[in-house]
Amino acid sequence: MENDIKDDMTLTNRQGHPISDNQNIRTIGSRGPSTLENYHFIEKISHFDRERIPERVVHARGAGAHGYFEAYGKVGDEAVSKYTRAKLFQEEGKQTPVFVRFSTVVHGGHSPETLRDPRGFAVKFYTEDGNWDLVGNNLKIFFIRDPLKFPDMVHSFKPDPVTNLSDPERMFDFLSGTPEATHMVTFLFSPWGIPANYRQMQGSGVNTYKWVNKDGEAMLVKYHWEPLKHGIKNLRQNEADAIQGMNTSHATQDLYEAIERGDYPEWELSVQLMTDDEHTELDYDPLDPTKLWDQAQFPFLPVGKMVLDRNPENYFAEVEQAAFGTGVLVDGLDFSDDKLLQGRTFSYSDTQRYRVGTNYLQLPINAPNAPVATNQRDGQMTLMVDSAHGQSPHVNYEPSTLGGLKEAPPEGKEHQPAYDAKLVRQKLERPNDFKQAGETFRQFEDWERDELIHNLVDALKVCAPQIQETMVGYFTQADADYGKRVADGLAKASVDTSHIASVSLREGAEMAEHSGQKTD
Ligand code: HEM
Repeated sequence: MENDIKDDMTLTNRQGHPISDNQNIRTIGSRGPSTLENYHFIEKISHFDRERIPERVVHARGAGAHGYFEAYGKVGDEAVSKYTRAKLFQEEGKQTPVFVRFSTVVHGGHSPETLRDPRGFAVKFYTEDGNWDLVGNNLKIFFIRDPLKFPDMVHSFKPDPVTNLSDPERMFDFLSGTPEATHMVTFLFSPWGIPANYRQMQGSGVNTYKWVNKDGEAMLVKYHWEPLKHGIKNLRQNEADAIQGMNTSHATQDLYEAIERGDYPEWELSVQLMTDDEHTELDYDPLDPTKLWDQAQFPFLPVGKMVLDRNPENYFAEVEQAAFGTGVLVDGLDFSDDKLLQGRTFSYSDTQRYRVGTNYLQLPINAPNAPVATNQRDGQMTLMVDSAHGQSPHVNYEPSTLGGLKEAPPEGKEHQPAYDAKLVRQKLERPNDFKQAGETFRQFEDWERDELIHNLVDALKVCAPQIQETMVGYFTQADADYGKRVADGLAKASVDTSHIASVSLREGAEMAEHSGQKTD
């Protein structure tokens, strides 16, 4: 952010007029009425009336920080150039400035940061080739694999449109029709669904991307951030409840204060690489974001580390107006055919044109450090003309012989995947919705499994029987013990609460009798 604070402390309006009275509006006599030409007041109040922009439709609650990424110049033990020509990774010690925004997903801008929810982990790299955004979460997988389901999923997770209350029954109603979410639900209802803070959590790109080398050859790649200094810490539900009773912004506070006292959080970035094909030998598709790639087969290869060492100067200007998107890649990085990734890529810049405005990329937090020279012009809130030195101001089109912009020479050979298939609506062929959920359940520590069962029972006990049955069926297919423990917990919960239900029904009937209403 450019610091444009002036030394002169005189209060002015936005036209630069010094303000000599900021206490009293102009009125006819001291008791009014007021007059319409109160320019200072009308400007001040009408700007205030417009202080808010729409919240992010998801991930509204967040905190951000600046820092840098430092490359190792290698991927594991090999030269990184073998796999990608992206410049930020090539040289050992090369630093690239970054801005990171952490977030929770479902609830609004001031919701408690203790909620059970994936955490967003979005990184903007201001590289010499323009910006690269790696828009990830703390968990390494996702609920769904087809972007068509995203709006329904989010509706079911957000509060009921009538009562405005969160309702696990709506969420599990959706999830019971979405078996591919079983693995994500297993993580989310375990302590991994409530990271203790933003500094002690992992990050992951979740989707499969590609790395492209100078010969245009591609590898499939997944990205992972591991916290370097203080390890990973997750919370039990009762620990989260206790924090929430005292502080609804504990994660923002933790991040801000750590950076202020010089305890800069650090993460190491690793990649998993796979050759760019269907991998029919695997029991899942590498393009399926509901799946982990087995680390024994596809090891984590470190490529660099990130340090966050500077707090924003202004929350709104930087954190609220920051706009990340999965389409924002630099040369040497590419999309894979992961359908969820392709759906996301449309959604981010679409929502940002609405949320922040057409010229959101001219804001300092979103503008690249690399030069910008386009022929895109005008629109609301145009701050500058994105032109090059030497570009004729008359030529806002290309091609031109009269001093216009020219296309860049190619950086390397283009990656050109070939396709031969019918245009269809079909899901991936190896859905394998439950196996990895079972593996994850068995890999948890005992206390994590106990928490998972407790949290699932607590949420499912208010759900309709058909939803409970379907969910128990999914957990059983993942792991017989998993399903049995949830089923046993639900049976016990229904015995425990049956007297409460009958009391309240009875009370309800009595109240209705008093008020003259009829009950069935
Ligand atoms: C934010 C859409 C899946 C991570 C958002 C926003 C939208 C969106 C519209 C608000 C952006 C803004 O207002 O600036 C989608 C769609 C998805 C999807 C359509 C699937 C089809 C995912 C997945 C991840 C993810 C799989 C994790 C890898 C994030 C993060 C943010 C975000 C971290 C907040 C970025 C920030 O801090 O500004 N998403 N999303 N999303 N999404 Fe997604």
